[in-house]
Amino acid sequence: MAPLIEALRGYEILDSRGNPTVAARVTLSSGVQAIGHAPSGASTGKHEALELRDKDPRRYGGKGVLGAVRNIEEAILPALRGMPAEVGAVDARMIELDGTFVRKSGLGANAMLAVSCAVARAAAIVSGEPLWRSLEMAKGRAALPLPMVNILSGGLHAGRHIEFQDFLVMGHGFGTYAETLHATVQVHRQARVVLEKRGYPVSGVADEGGWGPSLPSNEAALQVVTEAIEDAGYRSGEDFSIALDVAASHFHTADGRYALKSEERVLSASEMISLLERWAGAYPIFSIEDALEEDDWEGWRELTARLGSKLQLVGDDLFTTNPRRVQRGADLRAANAVLVKMNQIGTVTETLEVLEMARTLGYGAVVSARSGETEDSFLADLAVGSGAGQIKIGSITRSERLAKYNRLLEIEKDERLPYSNKLMVPRQFGAPQ
Ligand code: PGA
Ligand code: ZN
Repeated sequence: MAPLIEALRGYEILDSRGNPTVAARVTLSSGVQAIGHAPSGASTGKHEALELRDKDPRRYGGKGVLGAVRNIEEAILPALRGMPAEVGAVDARMIELDGTFVRKSGLGANAMLAVSCAVARAAAIVSGEPLWRSLEMAKGRAALPLPMVNILSGGLHAGRHIEFQDFLVMGHGFGTYAETLHATVQVHRQARVVLEKRGYPVSGVADEGGWGPSLPSNEAALQVVTEAIEDAGYRSGEDFSIALDVAASHFHTADGRYALKSEERVLSASEMISLLERWAGAYPIFSIEDALEEDDWEGWRELTARLGSKLQLVGDDLFTTNPRRVQRGADLRAANAVLVKMNQIGTVTETLEVLEMARTLGYGAVVSARSGETEDSFLADLAVGSGAGQIKIGSITRSERLAKYNRLLEIEKDERLPYSNKLMVPRQFGAPQ
């Protein structure tokens, strides 16, 4: 008989910024135990599922999660006790209990996700399969993802020196994930050399482990990354391309414009698109995330019409891993790829559904960590099992990031799984390439 859920404990633990987050541990009747951790973002989208915080100013500046922990032990456990460890059924039960659909304000998405991950992991242990295989939605779909790796940070992750949040590289000139990672580390190292040579002081690292230098402009960051690729001995545009996370919602003004203080201009959506178009011509850019504000659907339509056949245009704050918003994007032809963050929607099952939806709609998918992470490597297995093709975990320093990169190295060594280094502009709505 399949083992049943017997116990569930919640814990308040700390994330990579030292803020509280939620852990859950499930115990099955067979004695199997498994854990799950919820990550936490800083540049969160308006439409994300609710991260339940205590708001008690005496603890962690109000960021405590004891209420979410209580929900796990007092509300979720009684509803799950005696159920088989099957993540689809467990998530459905929690969603019903929560009663707020995508919002998750009944129980808290942090409480629900920690439980969901713990149960998915317990199910894998029971089946004797690696976690990624038990997350595979169709046989033969699993594949190692191409990493999109942070080199420099700006915006909310690095003291707002420059507005764009993330300058990343994608190594697509290498035959294996391990070789890609090795080359990416070379570029990351070289970026420091370039920064120092150009007289931009490097003082410590940013929230996702990349450099967080004081730079004069967003374009200067593009120059540094391009030079780092080339000085490390690689061909820009052929071995490596650049990905940006503009995170534009976070410097969008009340009158609907984009304040690029470091470039000394305030731009309309159309001007922003033109600027990105120019930079994509001057630098080896392949992917741009959150180029515009999260509710500017009209702007996103224009962006996609103008740049969508040449570039991967990723919606993070735009979609918040929410199936309704992804469907709206498809209807409006806005963006051509979805950033997928488990805690934006709150359960493993709904995350897999959004990944499936992206595939059906011809959208690309990038499985993504948060800026606040833990040592949980669940995300690596999710990226492999779903065959999403791309993963974004931050930089290649700091162990909350490396837990995932290293798990991918382990999976690559153990299993014969496909790895595609091809960067393809997503098919988008079934249109021919
Ligand atoms: P966040 O940043 O986790 O702080 O939201 C990551 C991102 O914007 O992609
Ligand atoms: Zn983002």
